[in-house]
Amino acid sequence: MLRTHTCGELRLADANKDVILCGWLHRSRDIGTIGFIDLRDRYGITQLSFDKNRDNEIFEKARKLGREFVLQIKGKVAERSSKNDKMPTGDIEVHVKEITVMNESKTPPFTIETETDGGDELRMKYRYIDLRREIVRKNLELRHNVTKFTRQYLDSQNFIEVETPVLIKSTPEGARDFVVPSRLNEGQWYALPQSPQTFKQLLMVSGFDRYYQIVKCFRDEDLRADRQPEFTQIDCEMSFVEQEDILLMFEGLIKHIFKNVKNLDFDKFERMSYEDAMKNYGSDKPDLRFDMKFVYLDNVARGYGFSIFDNAETIIAINVKQAANFTRKQIDELTEYVKRQQIGAKGMIYCRVLEDGSLKSSVDKFYDSNALQKWAKACNAEKNDLILVLSGDLHTTRKQMNELRLEVAKMQGLRNAEIFYPLWVTDFPLFEFDEENNRWHAMHHPFTSPKPEDFDLLKSNPAKIKANAYDLVINGVEIGGGSIRIHNRQLQQQIFATLGFSAEQAQEQFGFLINAFEYGAPPHGGIAFGLDRLCSILGGSDSIRDFIAFPKNNTGRDVMIDAPSDISPEQKKELGLI
Ligand code: AMO
Repeated sequence: MLRTHTCGELRLADANKDVILCGWLHRSRDIGTIGFIDLRDRYGITQLSFDKNRDNEIFEKARKLGREFVLQIKGKVAERSSKNDKMPTGDIEVHVKEITVMNESKTPPFTIETETDGGDELRMKYRYIDLRREIVRKNLELRHNVTKFTRQYLDSQNFIEVETPVLIKSTPEGARDFVVPSRLNEGQWYALPQSPQTFKQLLMVSGFDRYYQIVKCFRDEDLRADRQPEFTQIDCEMSFVEQEDILLMFEGLIKHIFKNVKNLDFDKFERMSYEDAMKNYGSDKPDLRFDMKFVYLDNVARGYGFSIFDNAETIIAINVKQAANFTRKQIDELTEYVKRQQIGAKGMIYCRVLEDGSLKSSVDKFYDSNALQKWAKACNAEKNDLILVLSGDLHTTRKQMNELRLEVAKMQGLRNAEIFYPLWVTDFPLFEFDEENNRWHAMHHPFTSPKPEDFDLLKSNPAKIKANAYDLVINGVEIGGGSIRIHNRQLQQQIFATLGFSAEQAQEQFGFLINAFEYGAPPHGGIAFGLDRLCSILGGSDSIRDFIAFPKNNTGRDVMIDAPSDISPEQKKELGLI
């Protein structure tokens, strides 16, 4: 080894030891005849000191070294005269006797500090330098721990990790595929997997009754803070189980991760049906760190001559606790927020419950104090609370109120990254109707089993069928989703038919799976967690990019290696593309 210790390791007990350290020059300074260098590696920072009076040659050499030079130093550990209790190595320094420059460095394009001066694009271009920053490094360490404890738990439960192929067949369901041309089969294309869904089901047919894989998935969709074109799933499947078995097994996994990574314990996770989630929070992934459950004012706010409410399909309120003192400006900001194009509300009505219990609304012209008291009662509003109201058609108003609820919570500092609220959302509809293409879509995916009691609705009323599907939501983020699968050929074919596939199309696209169901497919089900999202929740960040070593930017580019990029005419020719 070129070093005896790391830069995070030495303590007072090591005083007087001769040591060799390697690392990067983090910063340097000199005070008169004493020079200091902070030497940094993955483990921490150690202060080196150079005394002109002790060794002038080495003092002068140290002064000439630049930021991010790679150094090897030999020296003796000494107690510091002025200690730094903010650093684990803050009690000591190393009096350097010998210094070797292992490599020089250009001046880095941004400072390697938590609060860096580098913008997003610059840091992405030089991601290998960005990864030297403690804050980014810690995110990757957290990710490592999450996968380590995932493997530990799943191994203890008899799961085995199996790799499935990356060059597979394109299928029409789900998001867009990334495709890869085949040289040996000119004119034909592979697709990169959006998930290993069908393969893990085939593994169940093979008898691997507990499978998992920490696996890259690829989806060509529009990007957001919590979406990357390539991301990682903790993908799992089990045989001979019912929904309850899966929820308990994977609740156990999430608890194991939280315990080991954050030292947090949880009671049994709350559960909520999709229907209740939509009714009470307007979202299938409600953030339950705070209350503000929807209150429907349909029965108390109509019939007062306020045509907007009178003509609306629904009137939804939330009670914002202790917010009656919101300024006019804050209320205007919220109104502007819901009126933004992406949200699309026409306006927002409010009613303050004042200190003396009286009510002051933005529609006092229509509602007298008695009428407003009914609102307050329905909302359980007390003095100093603020009632916010939106109205319109049911589906849209719920969605808009969901956005408003989240925005108000942000304003009130209720989206605390140190609080974690896990929730199982269950009983999803099996299908959703796609108005644009006039067809049914599988809400989860086409392999999801309907609830047995709903089989009869398949022909008569697909909209009413509930699925044996579930999502794990933490703090309003969909962390994972799964279902009990169909393992019967006829039922699978019926589902494909409802989704608009002819028998031939279904056979062509998914014949391998439908056929496998004829060779002893066991009842099975599973779930996949988004590893990047799980890490970002644990790390208290909104962006999954912070937890991916080399992420893509928001147009799907890797600006460091400059991908995607053109390929040579020879390559294109070979692939039959020109
Ligand atoms: P689903 O499509 O719900 O299910 O994906 C599972 C989880 O993967 C994460 N995820 C993403 N993370 C980052 N970027 C993306 N673009 C992205 N897309 C999804 C989410 C999501 O909950 N095969 C099924 C699982 C199953 O049924 O077992 C599947 O892929 O956290």
